Amino acid sequence: MGNKILLVNGPNLNMLGTREPDKYGRLTLNEIVENLSKISKENGFILKDFQSNHEGEIIDFLHREGASSKGLIINAGAYTHTSIAIRDAILSVSIPFVEVHLSNVYKREDFRKNSYLSDIAIGVISGFGYYVYELGFYALVNYLENNN
Ligand code: DQA
Repeated sequence: MGNKILLVNGPNLNMLGTREPDKYGRLTLNEIVENLSKISKENGFILKDFQSNHEGEIIDFLHREGASSKGLIINAGAYTHTSIAIRDAILSVSIPFVEVHLSNVYKREDFRKNSYLSDIAIGVISGFGYYVYELGFYALVNYLENNN
């Protein structure tokens, strides 16, 4: 199976850096991915990252890569609050995952408090800006060490 970990970013996360920086910070997605790839390598994992603004493309990616990967870090963006289909795609490849959000979704509009992913995730990390990806990575690796 190798030591592959998936990183999925959903809609509008390609706009990081310029998108509502007060909520999402000033780092670009590229900078976040580069940092996480480096940390993955240092810890003996290969990070495969994917960003899409299209629900079906995210589902196809999970189908394609899920079964051959150890785990998943996902920021599904607004699909978090709407997509039963992404939930079902994750379940279909039965991959352990951490749900992350840059902003603290519990501090925001009520519609962001519902997640179709949280109850099937290992855990959720929300509100620490770009650092949620690193925290998510370490949380996932710790889970894998204790559950394999
Ligand atoms: C987000 C929170 C979502 O509610 C929002 O739709 C996003 C980003 C976050 O990272 O804080 O696109 O997932």
